[in-house]
Amino acid sequence: MSSLTQQLLSITGLSKQFAINSETVQALTDINLQVTPGEFISIVGASGCGKSTLLRIIVGLDSQSSGEITLGGQAIHKPGVDRGMVFQEARLLPWLTVRDNIAFGCRSNATNVEKCRLVDEHIALVGLAGFESAYPHQLSGGMQQRASIARALVNRPKVLLLDEPFGALDAFTRINMQQEVLRIWEAEKTTMILVTHDIDEAIYLGDRVVVMSSRPGTIKKIVPVTLSRPRDRSDYDFVQIRKEIYAEFFEQSPKPFAYAI
Ligand SMILES: Nc1ncnc2c1ncn2[C@@H]1O[C@H](COP(=O)(O)OP(=O)(O)OP(=O)(O)O)[C@@H](O)[C@H]1O
Ligand SMILES: [Mg+2]
Repeated sequence: MSSLTQQLLSITGLSKQFAINSETVQALTDINLQVTPGEFISIVGASGCGKSTLLRIIVGLDSQSSGEITLGGQAIHKPGVDRGMVFQEARLLPWLTVRDNIAFGCRSNATNVEKCRLVDEHIALVGLAGFESAYPHQLSGGMQQRASIARALVNRPKVLLLDEPFGALDAFTRINMQQEVLRIWEAEKTTMILVTHDIDEAIYLGDRVVVMSSRPGTIKKIVPVTLSRPRDRSDYDFVQIRKEIYAEFFEQSPKPFAYAI
């Protein structure tokens, strides 16, 4: 099989400009990225470098100014059930239960029996069995994010896009959720693209870490992470990768992290 046919998502020469009042903001410049089925891609970069814009273009909520983006060989023009997205805030509908929030995300042509089966499967997948009838305000932040992951996965998308999904969670819940996402990724083999400000999180989860430069966002470096999972954050090779990525942001000062070696 050629490398071309192995690609699921193909981004070529993608750029994006926004007009803010009379000014043009160059958000993304010449992004090139090929993602294979089942791959876990992490994206890190400074605030404002265009990470969310890139995910919004992949999910079809926004469009590129130039360049090409295809999923399974088809150009992306609008949102579709082949892509799911999880945001920093869970964005659940407060007047619906967990079950109904997840069912709400189900594709409209699913029968009621199919919907029930899919919803049950995904409630179990994210570890929310027993909380089907709870309303969002009755859940912890981590549980709300589990529900939003279930909602995004319920149509079995080809790609799950995660935009800082754990940014609002405390450190312990965040680590727990990283393990949960890893478990789900290993069980479902869904291709995942995670945007995060947490470099350790990016290395812990990703097959590759895409490092973006500041605005206008470009891909500065792609760092492969070939360590076996589950990964140990204090492992020598993990620390070396962390140093390599930090050096992209703070080229003169790798010392603060030397303690971990
Ligand atoms: N709808 C919009 N209209 C105009 N400009 C926008 C719009 N969305 C994003 N931008 C601009 O594009 C640039 C990239 O924004 P984006 O939200 O993608 O950054 P980000 O990397 O996700 O940042 P953060 O890490 O803070 O979430 C910013 O300069 C922002 O002002
Ligand atoms: Mg963002």
